[in-house]
Amino acid sequence: MTLTNQYPSLKGKTVFISGGGSGIGASLVESFFQQGAKVAFVDIQENVSNTLVDRLGSDDVRFYPCDLTDVERLQAVIAQAAEDLGPISVLVNNAANDTRHDFREVTPEQWDKCLAVNMRHHFFAAQAVYPYMKQLGAGSIINLGSMSWHAGQGGMPGYTSSKASIEGLTRGLARDMGPDRIRVNCLVPGWVMTEKQLSERVDEAAREAIDKGQSVKDPLMPESISAMALFLASDDASMCTSQNFIVDGGWI
Ligand SMILES: NC(=O)c1ccc[n+]([C@@H]2O[C@H](COP(=O)([O-])OP(=O)(O)OC[C@H]3O[C@@H](n4cnc5c(N)ncnc54)[C@H](O)[C@@H]3O)[C@@H](O)[C@H]2O)c1
Repeated sequence: MTLTNQYPSLKGKTVFISGGGSGIGASLVESFFQQGAKVAFVDIQENVSNTLVDRLGSDDVRFYPCDLTDVERLQAVIAQAAEDLGPISVLVNNAANDTRHDFREVTPEQWDKCLAVNMRHHFFAAQAVYPYMKQLGAGSIINLGSMSWHAGQGGMPGYTSSKASIEGLTRGLARDMGPDRIRVNCLVPGWVMTEKQLSERVDEAAREAIDKGQSVKDPLMPESISAMALFLASDDASMCTSQNFIVDGGWI
């Protein structure tokens, strides 16, 4: 799927994306780059991230290796990205890990680790970009939620709890940052056919569930998520804040 809209307000903006090396994140990196934005992204997967940077072939796309569970490193990388590309005006909190886990077996340490990968960095990245957005007089923060818990999915309570809490975080921060014209929204994907989902999770039974669950039966691709992110980041969305924007083919 090729995106066709152009948003002049995104040209030259600095966008920071977490988990940009693969999946939806890689589509986000490419889509913002195609709008003429300068894109900084972090990931733990160095090979795929470097390959993406090489493919896009521009100094306007920078990869910073970073494990987001290390908040100090994340804060340092955000400062470095702002120094390299200019003050950050768009943040997309995208990184997560939907590893399945049995609720009977989770230890307190595993629980904390799960929330650190899936939720904690959203807050600390938002906190770190706030001074740049305030200085610029506007900003857009986009938090990736998930339809999983809306649809009552089991098998990963740490992930679903994180994703549910991101919606609360979105509304709380939108209220705190709104007076500075910083908008905070939650982009809620349905079941997106990333390479990882296709190779690890999408079997025949899953295809049947998708066919039954979605109103529009076409496969949901990462670009459809990016399309909504571009709109939410653009000035055209200047009065959209504190909301969920669901892109799921009409499932929930
Ligand atoms: N794919 C789906 O069906 C789906 C559905 C609902 C919500 N989402 C949400 O959309 C977002 C992107 O999903 P995806 O399917 O592309 O995910 P993914 O697991 O395929 O990719 C996430 C990216 O984050 C990176 N990452 C993971 N842990 C990290 C860490 N500790 N530090 C730095 N980077 C790390 C990974 O290397 C990867 O590049 C996530 O927030 C996910 O919860 C996805």
